[in-house]
Amino acid sequence: MYHLVVFASGNGSTLQAIIDSITKHELEAKIELVISDNPNAYALERAKTNHIETYLIKNKDFTKRDIELSNVLSRYTIDLIVLAGYLKMIGPNLIEKYTIINTHPSLLPKYGGKGMHGMHVHEAVIQAQEKYSGATIHFVNQEYDKGTIISQTKVEVTPYDTAESLSNKVQAAEKLQLIEVLNRFIHHEIKS
Ligand code: GAR
Repeated sequence: MYHLVVFASGNGSTLQAIIDSITKHELEAKIELVISDNPNAYALERAKTNHIETYLIKNKDFTKRDIELSNVLSRYTIDLIVLAGYLKMIGPNLIEKYTIINTHPSLLPKYGGKGMHGMHVHEAVIQAQEKYSGATIHFVNQEYDKGTIISQTKVEVTPYDTAESLSNKVQAAEKLQLIEVLNRFIHHEIKS
């Protein structure tokens, strides 16, 4: 069995896509734990509904958070950590010990970095009148959105798109891409 831990700060529709794929046996994996930094994250509700353990990390200090998370994670068997809409920086302890991937809603390196997340990304893409946007899955290192890219999916931006319609398109493509990438990890087609 392939063991996942998912980090999520918000709605958790990406977490839900992973849960659904596991339920449908499209992904032979188990989510051991869902971690959030946000007590109001709907992702936590989704995890509880699906009987997945959760952990809320309250520490605001970067170094202390890294140590706390490292201690919590050491109790689990983990093959891969997935950042699915997690907005906090990951610390060196975790980066050293685990393979961690992040999904980002743009064609990195465009529209990445601190403050560039979720709807902010789509608003910036619309504002710049880009012809294309998309989603990127990459390894996580100690710089926001700078780790090695694993996979990218392009979507077209039409003149009729709003940040919201673009977000819907990107998120749909992003979820398919993530499940495909996770399957490639499970089948050892991607080296961590
Ligand atoms: C996803 O589109 C993900 O790419 C993005 O947040 C959304 C989470 O949605 N992540 C970032 O912007 C990270 N920089 P969800 O909470 O519904 O899964």
